Parts: sequence; structure tokens; C-alpha cells
Amino acid sequence: MDANGTRQSSAQSEGASQLPMPAVASVPLRVKPESRLCTFDEGGAAGADQFRLLLGRLMEVQARTALKRLLITSAVNGEGKTNVATNLALLAARESRQKVLLVDADIRQPGVHGVFGLENGQGVVDLLRSGREPWKAIRKAEGLNLYVLTAGAAHDEPLTTARILTLKAMLDQVAAAFELVVIDSPALEVAEAPMLAQLADAVLLVLRAFKTGRDLVLKAKDVLQGNTLLGTVITRLDP
Ligand SMILES: Nc1ncnc2c1ncn2[C@@H]1O[C@H](COP(=O)(O)OP(=O)(O)OP(=O)(O)O)[C@@H](O)[C@H]1O
Ligand SMILES: [Mg+2]
Repeated sequence: MDANGTRQSSAQSEGASQLPMPAVASVPLRVKPESRLCTFDEGGAAGADQFRLLLGRLMEVQARTALKRLLITSAVNGEGKTNVATNLALLAARESRQKVLLVDADIRQPGVHGVFGLENGQGVVDLLRSGREPWKAIRKAEGLNLYVLTAGAAHDEPLTTARILTLKAMLDQVAAAFELVVIDSPALEVAEAPMLAQLADAVLLVLRAFKTGRDLVLKAKDVLQGNTLLGTVITRLDP
């Protein structure tokens, strides 16, 4: 990962201790065996060290700039965004003592709920439709500093600019209670992903080794011009 520093933002003024943490439902975190959540157990499951490295780099940048909202995206579908978002959020909550919110903003192909074995009933989509206040749908992982906002029932309606602004307002409403907000997003080939990137202080680009071609990587970088690119994560490097 190449961490280059991040732009200043309103997040700088937000202290996690400034707002009381509203009561939210606490749910047991149940990891599906096939979920590849390598950071779930203590110690050195295969791959967990790479996430520790990533978290370390992220914290380095956080120490010198205001980086709270981190968007995870990729050039195309299926490169490992959800895997990175869930592992990073879980590790940060377990090992960095940060209060972490994981948001699934990939409303067309939601994946976060599946990794944690959560129902996807109430989530981003439902909040956008109902205008309910976001805390109603945020769930706390039992025994952890990790809070999860799932995507809600998957559907094909695009996230329009207006809806993205509503999502921004919702994140603004809750972000002060967290030190880190990890946002799982669609791939950049989906029009709403670059718009979602505007909600974040920085973007992490997930690239699948031996699959994502140079042209796609360059295009992704181009699309992210204007955003702070925290770096790239190469997935599935092992043969
Ligand atoms: N590091 C990895 N090693 C092996 N398999 C992986 C790894 N990361 C992800 N996968 C597998 O690749 C598939 C896609 O991963 P994931 O769902 O994280 O990608 P995604 O980018 O979120 O996909 P989508 O674009 O559909 O949301 C899954 O089956 C997942 O189990
Ligand atoms: Mg995904």
C-alpha cells in the first residue's frame, strides 16, 4: 500500500467522545466459514498479517491527517472489496481500539451482511427510502467496537445524486461517534461509485492480482482524480 496522506476535512473537528453513543441493537457476530474473514480470530490466520500491515499504514496516515471515512472500491466487480472492507473494519475494531462503523454502500450487490451472518432487512436502502434516523439501523457487534450498517435489500435502483447527498447527511449525523468509518462500495465501473467516493476522506483501491489489467487500473486511477487515494490493496496474490 502506498500511503500518500489525505486532505483535511470536517472529520478533523469530530471527536469520538463529543457525542453520546446512542443505544443500538447488539447482535452476535457470526462469521460464515466461507467468508474468509481472516482477522476474526486472535493471532496469525493466513492473511491477517497483511491486514495488520494495512491497518498500520492507515493509522500512520490518521496520525497526521484527518482520515475518518475510508471508501473501499475497485476497478471492476469481484476483486475483493467486501473482503478488504470487512477484515479491515474488524481488525481496526479489535486491535486499534478505534470505534469503527462499517457501511455497506454497495446496494446492488451487498456483501457485508453475508460475511457477518446478519439479516439484510434494515440498511442503507431502507434508511434512504424511509428517512428514518440512521441509528435505528446500525447494529453493534457483540463484544466488539464494531458497528455495522448493512445495505438493506438489494435492488437495481441507482443511487442518484440526491440519495447520495442524503447518505452523506446520514453519515454526518453518526460519524462523530466513530474514529473510523469504512464504506464498502460498488466498483468504479458503476456510476455511483465515484460519487460515493466524494463522501470519503480517502479511497482504497482493491485490485485483483493477475486479473485486473493495466488499462483498467489506469482508468480507475483516472476516475479517482480529485479524491485522495490512500493506496491500493492487491488481492489473491498467492497462486
Ligand atoms: N484474498 C482472497 N483470497 C481468495 N479469495 C478471495 C479473496 N478475497 C476475495 N475472495 C473471494 O472472491 C470473491 C469476491 O470477493 P468479494 O466479495 O470480497 O469481492 P467484491 O469486490 O466485494 O465483489 P462485488 O463486486 O461482487 O461486491 C468471493 O468469493 C471471495 O470469497
Ligand atoms: Mg462486495
